[in-house]
Amino acid sequence: MNTNVVWHQTAVTKEERRQRNGHHSCVLWFTGLSGSGKSTVANAVSKKLFDLGIQNYVLDGDNVRHGLNKDLGFSAEDRTENIRRIGEVAKLFVDSGQFVLTAFISPFAQDRALVRGLVESDEFIEIYVKCPLEECEKRDPKGLYQKARNGEIRNFTGIDSPYEAPEAPELIIDTHLHSIHQCADQVIAYLRDRHFIK
Ligand code: PPS
Repeated sequence: MNTNVVWHQTAVTKEERRQRNGHHSCVLWFTGLSGSGKSTVANAVSKKLFDLGIQNYVLDGDNVRHGLNKDLGFSAEDRTENIRRIGEVAKLFVDSGQFVLTAFISPFAQDRALVRGLVESDEFIEIYVKCPLEECEKRDPKGLYQKARNGEIRNFTGIDSPYEAPEAPELIIDTHLHSIHQCADQVIAYLRDRHFIK
């Protein structure tokens, strides 16, 4: 830690940004197995928010691992660091007055709890994208489950690396039982109920 670094106050506050935008800002943290539909639902929600005039951005596992986190793999330590960095980035988005939607497996409860603690209590919405492993494996959009079963990929979540399902998420969306459109609407309805959007 660099002790010569001093925190600067910003000229425009989060509240002023929210007032200008006309809406709250928060993290919509989608967590779930590979192939559960995190990115698809997050992008569907993003489009709906965009059409409502709400500032938002999606941070996606595969994309972030091409840039910011390209030095990280899938060991437990690297996953923890992956989520820590994303948490810090998400916090900056909240500060900028926007909704940030994150689509990471984020398999460890402790890592998700750490991110929750980075922001205010009404700024973190954990969304469990629930889908049975058998269904994710059947979908296998990138052929990764097959590779994991063949031993070509090690530490694959759900196969030889654990996924700790959230115990008390703000929302559970079941992509096995409902369409992407219905799941996205469920998120929008939740945000309306909490008066985060109109
Ligand atoms: S994590 O656990 O939160 O750090 O993972 P994340 O950053 O979301 O990256 C998950 C995507 O990386 C691909 N991939 C793997 N996933 C899990 N385990 C292993 N070993 C692995 N190797 C590569 C996979 O495409 C994941 O994408 P999604 O969108 O979740 O299917």
